Amino acid sequence: MVFSKLFKKPPSTEQRPPTPTEDAEPSSADPTAEELEEVPQEDWGVRAQRLIPGGASTGSKRPGKLFGDSADHPTHFLRASGCHVETLDGQQLVDCTMALGSVALGYAEPQLTRAVIESLANGSVSGLSPAIEVEVAAALCGAIPCAERVQFLKTGAEAMSAAVRIARTYTGRDVVIGCGYFGWHDWSSDAAGVPATAQQLFRRVPFDDVVALDRAVSGAGDRLAAIAIEPVIERLPSSEWIARARKLCDDSGAALIFDEIKTGFRIATGGYQQYADVTPDLAAFGKAMANGYPLAAVCGNAALMDAAEKTWISSTLASETGALTAAAAVLGWHERVDVCASLWSNGKDMRECVEAAIKASGMSGVAVEGIDPMWFLRFESPDVETAFLRAAVRHGVLLKRGAYNFAALAHDDDAIREIEAGASAAFVEIQEDDR
Ligand SMILES: Cc1ncc(COP(=O)(O)O)c(C=O)c1O
Repeated sequence: MVFSKLFKKPPSTEQRPPTPTEDAEPSSADPTAEELEEVPQEDWGVRAQRLIPGGASTGSKRPGKLFGDSADHPTHFLRASGCHVETLDGQQLVDCTMALGSVALGYAEPQLTRAVIESLANGSVSGLSPAIEVEVAAALCGAIPCAERVQFLKTGAEAMSAAVRIARTYTGRDVVIGCGYFGWHDWSSDAAGVPATAQQLFRRVPFDDVVALDRAVSGAGDRLAAIAIEPVIERLPSSEWIARARKLCDDSGAALIFDEIKTGFRIATGGYQQYADVTPDLAAFGKAMANGYPLAAVCGNAALMDAAEKTWISSTLASETGALTAAAAVLGWHERVDVCASLWSNGKDMRECVEAAIKASGMSGVAVEGIDPMWFLRFESPDVETAFLRAAVRHGVLLKRGAYNFAALAHDDDAIREIEAGASAAFVEIQEDDR
């Protein structure tokens, strides 16, 4: 079995836990080059399709979503470090996607990784809560404008579901108006399998449209529990729209919820609310908060958050110490240096170098859009997008289809040069193929 090849040397008890100096050295559990050569060159995407619905547990990492239906492109990685990913075939890619924005410092950041390993060596969970849960909650209350109370969960979808449950408990109402993607849970989804009764309670409104928001709020009447907003969708919203949402909630007694899963620890440490100086009642954070470790948080003002005790929101592993330690390290990073300023500036460099590649190659039908820390490529033709993404990865650059690329601290000048070279070569190649 391939798995047993990759992990054929389980660590002995004497070897674990690793000491803090081990991070640069390959561990004895890592496969050697010879072992990798022995791994059958079976297509990982095809194997995954047989075993995992859609081929990947994360929807946008499904082979079809990455490069379209093709067996020739990488679907799985062996190692990730900084902003580089090593595929199972040994190809090094510079990653512009940063795991859907869940990593903003860099993959396997050595200092953070050492801290996590040390914490795990002391037990990741127990019958009591870990002290670090309180420490990270306090640090979040210091960093996030709306946060007076915090509850930890594991995923962004959970944190947003918790925010909505808290708002419904607090207000005693049921209708939620929303704009954005909030994860896969029933309350905001119209996917197959979601009961119609759940869908009737969620009213979707377009981004940055004051008139539509007003109309939805009057339609909800005295049943409005919350307005849930993902504050950046392709661009920053107008201040009028956000101010209107705040006022409509104030006037109606509904809760204003910001989904800061992508914006938190990215456009500003405390998210859009800090960036724009508009304080919601509740907010959800995740992704970059723990630099790729599974952690999310719902937070908000004390009066609303205390309603969490009147309902039931709980998860067995919510306060597991590895992810909390990662979040503590991230928070410390943000205290020491202006991480978000670097994400804006590295993101600007990334998008400018891709714009330069477009211009130099004479490519048309594609534009770089978004905001600097989270930008994307808009292609007029999906087929051209697929051809470009495939060519780019052959030239060593991993980019996201139809969604954001995210800047990280790890995107240094060398990485920017690699992105520009790979993107240029890909744009030239697909135009030549077209002739
Ligand atoms: C704005 C937003 N909210 C919620 C989620 C769901 O988070 P998760 O996938 O961790 O459940 C995402 C994920 O991409 C997101 O971007």
